[in-house]
Amino acid sequence: MKLVIAATGASGAIYTQRLLDNLRGHEVHFIASRHAREVAALELTGGWRVPPDVIQYEETGSMMVPFVSGSAQFEAMAVIPASMGTMGRVASGVSDTTIARAADVFLKERRKLIFVPREAPYNLIHLRNMAALVEAGAVILPASPSFYSRPTTIEQLVDTIIARVLDHLGVAHSLSKRWPNAE
Ligand SMILES: Cc1cc2nc3c(=O)[nH]c(=O)nc-3n(C[C@H](O)[C@H](O)[C@H](O)COP(=O)(O)O)c2cc1C
Repeated sequence: MKLVIAATGASGAIYTQRLLDNLRGHEVHFIASRHAREVAALELTGGWRVPPDVIQYEETGSMMVPFVSGSAQFEAMAVIPASMGTMGRVASGVSDTTIARAADVFLKERRKLIFVPREAPYNLIHLRNMAALVEAGAVILPASPSFYSRPTTIEQLVDTIIARVLDHLGVAHSLSKRWPNAE
C-alpha cells in the first residue's frame, strides 16, 4: 500500500513509532510537525527510530510533496498522534500546512483518513471539530487503549490501538488476537 503517516504535536510519540514499526513492506511517506518532533524528543530517547525504507519529510508548509495533490494515488493517511490544533485546521478547511492540506486532499478524494487524537478533557470546540471530520468522511480512532488482553508493557498497551489503526488502514497484522480469543 501507499500510505501517508503524519505525526502532530500531541502526546503519544510511541504510537507513531509502533505504527511505523508495523508497516514494513509498504510505501510509507512520514511527515512530522515541528511540535511533533519536540514532543517525540521529550517522550522517546533519541526521538523516533524511523525504518530505513520510510520516506521522510519535515512539516515546512511545502506543497512540493506528492501527497498534497489528489492526482497522487495514495490509499490511506493516518494522523497519529493527532493534535487538537491540526484537527481544528482540517475541520475548518484551513490547508496552510502540508499535513492539513494532505488531510484535506484525502477527504476530498474520499480516501481513508484516520485521526488518532490525544487530549483530555475535550472542550466543545474539539468535539465539534471531530463531528465535522466524521461528517466529512474521516475516522476518529482515539488513543484510548484497551485492557482486556491484559497488556503488561507499554508497547502491548499501545499496540491495542495500533492493531485498530492497521485494521482501518487495511494492513494485515498479527498484533493482537481477535475477540473472543483476546488473551
Ligand atoms: C509536551 C507537549 C505535549 C502536548 N500534548 C498535547 C496533546 O496531548 N494534545 C494536543 O492536542 N496538543 C498537545 N500539545 C499542544 C500542541 O503541540 C500544540 O497545540 C501545537 O500547536 C500543535 O501543532 P501541530 O498540530 O502543528 O503539531 C502539546 C504540546 C507540548 C509541548
